[in-house]
Parts: sequence; structure tokens; C-alpha cells
Amino acid sequence: MTSPITTTRQGDVLILTSDNPPVNALGAAVRQGLQAGIEEAKSDDSIKAVVIICAGKTFFAGADITEFGKAMQEPSLPVLVDQIEALDKPVIAAVHGTALGGGCEVALASHYRIAVPSAKFGLPEVKLGILPGAGGTQRMPRVAGVEAALEMATKGDPISAEQAKAAGLVDRLATEGNLLADAVAFAQEVIGKPVSRSSERPVTVDPAVFDAFRKANGKRFRGLEAPAAIIDLIEQTAGKPYAEGVQAERMGFMKLIMGTQSAALRHIFFAERKATKIDGIAEDVQLRDIKRVGVIGAGTMGGGISMNFLSAGVPVTIVEMAQEALDRGTATIRKNYEATAAKGRMTAEQVEGAMGLLKPTLNFDDLAECDLIIEAVYESMDVKKDVFGRLDKIARPGAILASNTSYLNIDEIAAATSRPQDVLGLHFFSPANVMKLLEIVRGAKTADDVLATAMALSKKIKKVAVIAGVCYGFIGNRMLMPRQVEANKMLLEGATPEQIDKVHVAFGMPMGPFQMADLAGVDIGWHRDPNRIENIRDALAAEGRWGQKKSAGFYDYDEKRTPSNSPRVTELIAEWREKLNVPQHEVTEEEIVVRTLYTMVNEGALILAEGMAQRASDVDVVWVYGYGWPPYRGGPMFWADTEGLKKIVDGLDKYGFEVAPLLREKAEKGEKFNK
Ligand code: 3HC
Repeated sequence: MTSPITTTRQGDVLILTSDNPPVNALGAAVRQGLQAGIEEAKSDDSIKAVVIICAGKTFFAGADITEFGKAMQEPSLPVLVDQIEALDKPVIAAVHGTALGGGCEVALASHYRIAVPSAKFGLPEVKLGILPGAGGTQRMPRVAGVEAALEMATKGDPISAEQAKAAGLVDRLATEGNLLADAVAFAQEVIGKPVSRSSERPVTVDPAVFDAFRKANGKRFRGLEAPAAIIDLIEQTAGKPYAEGVQAERMGFMKLIMGTQSAALRHIFFAERKATKIDGIAEDVQLRDIKRVGVIGAGTMGGGISMNFLSAGVPVTIVEMAQEALDRGTATIRKNYEATAAKGRMTAEQVEGAMGLLKPTLNFDDLAECDLIIEAVYESMDVKKDVFGRLDKIARPGAILASNTSYLNIDEIAAATSRPQDVLGLHFFSPANVMKLLEIVRGAKTADDVLATAMALSKKIKKVAVIAGVCYGFIGNRMLMPRQVEANKMLLEGATPEQIDKVHVAFGMPMGPFQMADLAGVDIGWHRDPNRIENIRDALAAEGRWGQKKSAGFYDYDEKRTPSNSPRVTELIAEWREKLNVPQHEVTEEEIVVRTLYTMVNEGALILAEGMAQRASDVDVVWVYGYGWPPYRGGPMFWADTEGLKKIVDGLDKYGFEVAPLLREKAEKGEKFNK
């Protein structure tokens, strides 16, 4: 087999070029090739310096994650990086694209780093539940300082080449498109100079930094093992020699990689990518060209949806029925962009650029110029059918017609047109400009190229998309239903909202079912008839306890939106318990887990058996990206696998639930949802 590493010479500079698509992951063959190159440089006196560079779209994007859990082939990455650094001739890492994880560690072990301005550097291992395991926790503090190292290694977000230069991580910026020549020139300049090894530099730090960092990020790191392990490791090894530090790093890495959190996070990494693959569709299907998007409805949802496209540089025609609503919607979009700019995440020109792509109109016929039209109007089948009937008359042939419905039947909506093959669901989550998830709902007649185009577009607007089938609530909201039903029943049977929410927060969710109801609005879905009060939720809505927006819902809220127990809600619950004569019992934590989490797994199994999700990992992606399921628990189906499906079935049986046949079958066979 040919090596992914090619060696060439320019004068006395040896150039090691890696070509291992798609992201130059540091798999065994790459490591072996690099090692051979370093050996060659060591033994050949005519070589005076080495440049390490990558072909394709990026510098090494990290260790090869697919090798994790398998027997490691020599040389390991930690051994390789030390060999690179030990060479007594200058090694220059020439970086473009993303130098991530092990890639960043190769760069850190090199004696010099040159990068094009568009390059990025990062230690994203933490996002996979591990710590940098090839010297990153030791060299980064020595090169860029402890604070930068803590920031990069615990949060995992990449920094720009410019920032890396300011931090001392990059020695020189190259000209875009001229990286190799600039790197070779740099190499020639430093030939003969004593090499500077980052592992030999001292670490200087004020010990107070660590606790301050823990305190500042406590909320962000809640429940996560890796960030805490990284902070502890850097703190404990800061004053120690590199050799000792790197040994501690190795032990910390091994411990984390064998844990459930890392398995869950790696599962989500691959699940997110797998979700983009659509069953039964050729990968090379010709995509439709989407030059302009139409959005019907300038409310919260329509505005949020529009922002996704505007931010990605796609012009949007937004339609409303009344001038006032249109103006309000447009003003909200601008306000949101300006708020982002105020936080320094957008420039004033970018705000104007995005707003310049927006065409607000009252004329429905203007949608004729759009290649994709997304309807975000009132959630009613009659209204949707009417909109699609009208669209059918004016949309250009081949335009994709999408509904943002959260529950309704896409096939029925498509039947209101003469072109059901062009119709699909694009279910965005609120706030649509922020939430990562997009459910792409595949109707019975949706054409392959329509689905594939929607999937490609989702990447362009930075969403994580999952294909869902036509069923009430699709994947996410359908699984939410049993949870809500059981949570409400438990209130009547003796639990409090606090008790139930607490279990969910302790599990790692950002909030529990009642906190979520208060945030979303207790009045959502309420029939607005004060004489029709059928449950506690109706009673709250009828009293104007609509949630956070009214400072009162299942909880009372102060002006800082801090929730507290509401005596009125306690009273209401008691009234309903008495009125319905519900027998009371002490609701335990175990019962809450079974009735609100195991039931979700059960629904997930039904969804899978019906083919409404393509694979179990897609269900996991929906819950992690759309509903705040803690990524370190890998999504509901992965979590069920780690709990053991037999345990889930036993729990469901104990509380008298009808167990999904697929779930029972898998439990009996000792199988898992995710292989
Ligand atoms: N190992 C193996 N495969 C990888 C990989 C890696 N490190 N990174 C990406 N891939 C694969 C993806 O699974 C995907 O495969 P597919 O086409 O079969 O689905 C393919 O490469 C392309 O990936 P993306 O779709 O993500 O491509 P993008 O262009 O959108 O993004 C990227 C590129 C920013 C590099 C992104 O892939 C990424 O963030 N990768 C992970 C980086 C990472 O976590 N590195 C650290 C690894 S752990 C480590 O280094 C340990 C060390 O400290 C010892």
C-alpha cells in the first residue's frame, strides 16, 4: 500500500506532505509515514530542516477517531510527537484548514509553526469526552500560556491563525495560497539555529487561575467529566517536568477514553454525520439550485428561519398579510442581528449585508421568484392546505415547497398541490436562528432530489438535520408526548413540579418538563376558552399564568426570572387531585425516571419499528440537538443501551406500560439499538 506521506526535497529542506482525505486524520499509515520521514531527516546529513504540510482541505484534523477502542498500531501519536520534537534539525509545521487535536499537537511538537490567515487551531478532544493525549495539555501551557491552554482544551473551540499568532502558538503568518513556499523560506532562515523545543520551556502560572477558571465555567461544565479532568491535570502538572506531566496526561486520557461519557460523545460525533446519509438515495443525485428562499410568515418562527438563510448569504423574500406584522418581523430580525453585533460576533457591515438580502413584501405572488418556499404560518391543517393550494398556483416549476409544521401530516398538505413530489417538511426549532436541529420530513411522494437538496442546504445554514417520516410530532415532539403526559399525571398522583424538574436537571437536561412549559408558554396549544378548563395546565392558562413571560406559570418568577415554588400552583394541584379523586402515593425518583425517560425510549422504539427514523442514532441526534438531551449521555437510544435494555423493559413493565415490541425483542436477545 502506498503511504499517505510523500517526501520531497527543496534544496536541503525535506518536505513531508500528508494526503489522507477527507481530513488528514492521523491514522496508523500517516503516523508511520511521518515517523519514517523524521528518521530520514535524522540519518541524512544533507537534510537541514523539515516541513510538515498537508494536501487537501486541511492540516491534520486530529487522531483518527475510528481507531479508538482498537489495538493501537505503532508508532502511537504521543511517541511520534516526541520524536518530531527530539529531532535536532528545525521542523516547521505549515498549517492550513484546521489543526485540531492531534493535528494541533503535531504542530506544537514542531519547532516552528507557520499558518495561512484562514487556518484554525484547536483542541476539541473535550467534545469527544477525552483530553488532548499527545502532549497537548503539556505543550500548550508552555507555548500559549496556562489560561489559553485551559480555554482551548476545556471548551474545544478553535481559534483563528491571527489569535494563535497573538498567543504565541503561531510564529509566522503565510500568504494565502503560498504556504509551502513560505514554509520552505522560513525553514531556510532557521537552518543552523538551535532548535527550540516547547516541552523544555517552563510553565509560569498564578495558582489562583485554576479555581477562578473552575468558578467562571461551573455552569458550562456541569455534569461533564473531561473539562474537570483537564483543569485538574494542567493544575497538578504545571510545576512539573514535561516527562512527568505527559505521563499523567496519558493516564488521564486512558481513563476518560474508557468511560461512558466519551463513548456517548463519540457516538454523537458519528451519529451527526451519519444522519446526513439518506437511505435509498444515490449519493450523487443532482441537487436543485436554491438561489432565493421564500418564507411565509414574519412571526418569531418565520423571522428565525429567514435569519438562517440571510446569515448564509442566501436572499430571502418574506411575506406577511399586514404591513404592521411585516414591519415588526423585519425589525425583530434587525434587532437580533444588532444584538449579535453588540456581542462582537458580527460586524456592522455583516448586519447590513444580511439585512440587504431581505425582501419584505405583502405580495404573495412575489414568492414566484423563489426556489424554496417555507411556510411558517398558524398550525392548522386548513390554513396550511390553503397556503399550499395558493403556492401551487404561483410557485415556479421545480420550486421546493416546505412546511414548518411541528405535528401535521405532510402528505395531506402535499395533496393540496398538484406537485406532491416537491413538498416536504422542514421543521425548525425555536428560536430557529439559534437551535441546531432541523427535522426534514419525508412525505410519501417527496422526490429524492428534493430531500437531498434540503439536506445539503441544512449544512449550508449550519443545521444538524435528520430525516423523519410522516407521523404526529415526527421524531422529537412525538417522543416528548409520553413524557409530558406522565409528568402531568404524576402531579396529580402526589409529585410536585419541582420534584420532577429536579430529576431531569440532575440527569443533565437544561430544564425539566415544567420549567420547559413555563419557558415555551403555558398558553401554547390552549384553546383560549376560560370556560373550558380540563386540566391543571388549562387552569394555569385561564388564570393568566402563561409562564416566564407573565412571571407566573408552574413557578413564580422574580424580575431576574429566577423560579420559586408557587403557593397558588400547589393550591391548584391540590384542588385537581381532590376533584378527580386521584389516589395519592409518594412518587420516587426511580418512578420519575421510568415514567418520563424510559417512556421516551419506548416511543423511540416505536418510531424505529415504524421506519419514522432511519436509525437509532438519528433519534439520538434529534434529542441532543433539539431538546437539550445531555450529549454526554449520547441521546435516549444510546442511553438506553448503556442502561441495558432489559432494565428499561423491567421498569416499563413495573409501572404497567405497554412495551414496544422492538424494545422487548432487543432486550430479550441482549441486543442494543446502536451497534
Ligand atoms: N477521525 C476520523 N474521521 C474523521 C475525523 C477524525 N478525527 N474527523 C472527521 N472525520 C470524518 C468524518 O466522520 C466524516 O466522515 P464521513 O464522510 O464518512 O461521514 C469526514 O471525516 C468529513 O468530516 P465532516 O463531515 O465533519 O467534514 P467538515 O468539513 O464539515 O469538518 C472538521 C471537518 C472540522 C475537521 C470536522 O470533521 C471535525 O471537527 N473533526 C473532528 C476533529 C477532532 O475532534 N479532532 C480531535 C480528535 S481526538 C484526538 O486528536 C486525540 C489526540 O489528542 C490524541
